[in-house]
Amino acid sequence: QMSIYESGDEGARLLPVSLSEWEERAEKKLDAGSFGYVHGGAGAGDTMRANIDAFQTYRIRPRICMDISNRDLSVKLFGHKFTAPFLFAPIGVNSIFHPDAELAPAKAAAKLGIPYILSNVSTMDLEKVAEVMGDGIRWFQLYPPRNHELTKSFLSRAEAAGYSAIVVTIDSTLLGWRETDLRNAYLPFLSGHGMGNYFSDPVFCSMLDESPEKNRKAAVKVALDEGNNICFTWKDLDFIRQQTKLPILLKGVTHPDDAIVAIEHGVDGIIVSNHGGRQLDGAIGTLEALPFICEAVKEKVPILMDSGIRRGADILKAMALGASAVLIGRPYVYALAVAGQMGVEEVMKHLFTETELQMAISGRTSIQELDRSLVMKVN
Ligand code: FNR
Repeated sequence: QMSIYESGDEGARLLPVSLSEWEERAEKKLDAGSFGYVHGGAGAGDTMRANIDAFQTYRIRPRICMDISNRDLSVKLFGHKFTAPFLFAPIGVNSIFHPDAELAPAKAAAKLGIPYILSNVSTMDLEKVAEVMGDGIRWFQLYPPRNHELTKSFLSRAEAAGYSAIVVTIDSTLLGWRETDLRNAYLPFLSGHGMGNYFSDPVFCSMLDESPEKNRKAAVKVALDEGNNICFTWKDLDFIRQQTKLPILLKGVTHPDDAIVAIEHGVDGIIVSNHGGRQLDGAIGTLEALPFICEAVKEKVPILMDSGIRRGADILKAMALGASAVLIGRPYVYALAVAGQMGVEEVMKHLFTETELQMAISGRTSIQELDRSLVMKVN
């Protein structure tokens, strides 16, 4: 914070401070297709807006005259300490935003001391991402394929490369109705973006008549069919559970009953998410869903959340309502597009600092102190 004030005019000109500035710059830099892909939501955008608006239905009630000189943003989850209660949300096809693709946010995460969740549909393969992260905490996100052998292969590769948790995303077995992308006739996978993990997988390659190098179009089609597994049920989750000892988190839960069933099927964590409003339009905003899920789960497993988190105040409210940590999505993608790894670090450092200040000014000195008494429902 002080370094920004001290940098004077020059600093102010060079680096955006607010997220809306990063977004504006990203829009100028990217072509319409790739900007639309990150910026857009499903249908009328109602759920994407509900995610943001839900944060206005709670207000923070600060306490005063507290000693706030020693502050700690760190949290512990699944045996790892994170410097702050943030994770990088899994975002696929990063090569449409920056040539360094997933390597940039992965390196930023390792440097910042928070986990990077690598998307199953990343441009870079998972081994390459692991290599640049060193000891950095990494989790692997799986769109559970139809073929169980392919599932096994992704899981064992992730384990071998040091990923320490598996995020199974279940809200996207069909692609939502995304009008911006339809208008732009833009689906990045069709031009080969986001296929790193598939094309480097021996089981996947054995499913093809010709190698991806020889016939990329056919390989992409098989990969998309695998990833859009509309037959997925709880039984398939049991299969995944049997294949790995790593913690499994289910991403895309918004109904408390699903959270309960998921725990019965052995998941170790829930991620309350609606995919940033990109899938089911009209669905509940995630902050609206969070308290009900926490009430149903009764602290049996940690509950994380994403969708619509843009500011320190949002993070405080999510933590106060029961989240153990939050995933950051679009904000880091805009910064990636504008300034690669440096941009990603910058935007995340701003979030760290804003969260720390907000926490302190509200009279709390650690994340553990952010409980229900911090917020009040106002409408
Ligand atoms: C996503 N998201 C996503 N989720 C996932 O599990 N696997 C993936 O590959 C992707 N890919 C992806 C691409 C893009 C461009 C976006 C914007 C989102 C969803 C993501 O993990 C997260 O749930 C949302 O981004 C959170 O919402 P906000 O913070 O972006 O509003």
